[in-house]
Order: sequence, then C-alpha cells, then structure tokens
Amino acid sequence: MKQNGVILWLTGLSGAGKTTIAQRLENNLREQGYLVELLDGDAIRQHLSVELGFTKEDRDINVRRVGYVANLLSRNGAIVIVSLISPYRQVRDELRCSTKNFVEIYVNAPIEVCEARDVKGLYAKARNGQIKLFTGIDDPYEEPLNPEITCYTAKETIDESVVKILNAIG
Ligand code: ADX
Repeated sequence: MKQNGVILWLTGLSGAGKTTIAQRLENNLREQGYLVELLDGDAIRQHLSVELGFTKEDRDINVRRVGYVANLLSRNGAIVIVSLISPYRQVRDELRCSTKNFVEIYVNAPIEVCEARDVKGLYAKARNGQIKLFTGIDDPYEEPLNPEITCYTAKETIDESVVKILNAIG
C-alpha cells in the first residue's frame, strides 16, 4: 500500500496529555489501516535512552536520537507519532529543517493544570526537591512559536484534540 510518511511531533509539559492523545491517535490511524508507529518518551527512556538524564545536553541528545529514528520510519512511509517533552525550541526547529513532513503539535496545558493532575506524582517530588531539573518547575519549557497545531487540553476533550489533528493532516 502506498502511504506518505509524516512525523507528528507532540511537545508539551509532563502531564499535558501528550501520551493520551498519542495513543488515541495511534489507535484511530491503525483502525483506518495506516502503518503507524509511536515513539513515546517514557518507553524511549526505558529502552533507547536509558543512559540519559534530564540536563539540557541529555535532553538534546534524546530528542535528536528520536528525531533520527522518526525520520528513518517516516521516509519508509510510516506515520510516526512522537510524544516527548522536547523542551528546547532550537532542537525542535532543527528537526523541522532536517526531516520531511514534520508536523509540530503543541499539547498546551497551563503548568498549574498539569501540576494539579500530577498523574505520576512527579510534580510533588519536584516541589519537595526529590527530583531536580523538572520541566516547568526548575527547568525550562520553551513554547513552540509557530506550531502547525495546538491542542488546548485544559479546554478541549482528548477526542476533540485527536479530531483536530486528524483533520489537519487530512
Ligand atoms: S525530554 O525532555 O527528553 O523530551 P522525555 O519526554 O524523554 O523528556 O521524558 C519525560 C518523562 O520523564 C516525563 O514524562 C517524566 O515521566 C519523566 N521525568 C523524570 N524526570 C524528569 C524531569 N526532571 N523532567 C521532566 N520529566 C522527567
């Protein structure tokens, strides 16, 4: 089957909803018969980037590494969904330039909302100093300036965000 590859790059704070949207998107596209692969931050850090921490240098390596893999897959026609905090604008822009069909999707929720959700209990740990360099608390998140799509997960349902992405990629 002929299919054009694309990289759907979800960036945003921890707890913004990247993984939830990514999984729902993956299921939807697979049900439609597309070849789709999901590269999710937590799994990547358990397998491909086990040795990396959360300094700027390590995050940049992680993001470039995943970008490289995403490019290999997408140039073979896969729809690649990437879900990484990817907090630094420069590396995201670098990937936009070095890959084809890069779609930047900003999964946008205020830090207060992400912290209130605290699905993994990591914000509490960051607040009491058990975790250092936590994105949004004592480490930066640089918002995308011109993302192709923004999902406002504090205002939209997951399904609304997913439909928005599906409509945008046609
Ligand atoms: S990235 O910055 O390199 O893109 P990535 O998405 O791979 O980050 O990993 C983020 C995940 O690691 C978070 O969802 C969270 O579960 C976990 N994590 C552990 N420590 C940190 C930290 N200091 N900052 C952000 N996320 C962390």
